[in-house]
Amino acid sequence: MAITTQQLIRFKKEGRAIAVLTASDYPFAQILDQAGIDVILVGDSLGMVTLGYETTLPVTLDEMIHHAKAVRRGVKHALMVVDLPFMTYQESHEQAMRSAGRVMKETGAQAVKLEGGYADRVTTIAQLVQAGIPVMGHLGLTPQSVHQVGGFRQQGRSPAEAETMMVEAIALEKAGCFAIVLEHIPPELGLHISQKLSIPTIGIGAGPQCDGQVLVTADLLGLSAWQPPFAKVYTNLRESITQAVQTFGSEVREHRFPQE
Ligand code: KIV
Repeated sequence: MAITTQQLIRFKKEGRAIAVLTASDYPFAQILDQAGIDVILVGDSLGMVTLGYETTLPVTLDEMIHHAKAVRRGVKHALMVVDLPFMTYQESHEQAMRSAGRVMKETGAQAVKLEGGYADRVTTIAQLVQAGIPVMGHLGLTPQSVHQVGGFRQQGRSPAEAETMMVEAIALEKAGCFAIVLEHIPPELGLHISQKLSIPTIGIGAGPQCDGQVLVTADLLGLSAWQPPFAKVYTNLRESITQAVQTFGSEVREHRFPQE
């Protein structure tokens, strides 16, 4: 049975932590799914880790849909969530509805994720939820606003910022979000928001007390050339792949592969 949004809310009630990872292609999606990851996010971070852009801003809806379709073919059990990329939902509620509708219809995802929590965004999210589209929120460091916040820096540090984030988190829950990603905020704020909400918080650089944790898979596997300070690198695949590829290169040049 595939994981549902309601099940994630139950997991929070039961104190069962939620494991979330990103995927952008079929083989990784299949590996993560078969390894028992609860939620597979086709995050727009794929713009940086898969497509080589410097930020997530250039990512298009067509690119997200292309990658999400490949991920869908590998995911049988996890809940699959797809990011709406920059400027595919900010313009108007109608634009958000069209973009989210395309993602749901064309990729088979079970939910979309949107960044931000100010009043207009909350209204957009409420309308998507009323239309039957499950929404995951995203507060704290919202990479689509990287130029507005002056870099990939920690958010919610001052009491005023922390208070605003708490108000936004409550508003997102009321609008119908089934979960909220909290990115790069002080751990105490991650804890306070998690305690206040009935829906699960999924932290990334938001401390150990969130209801779940998410990492960008390329960071976890040591594939990215650069990792954010809060990422944990579990293995160095970049090194293993380099070694394997170099060995192949030498064996071909030295006529040691293939063997008779
Ligand atoms: O795009 C992404 O991968 C994300 C995660 C970092 C939560 O939004």
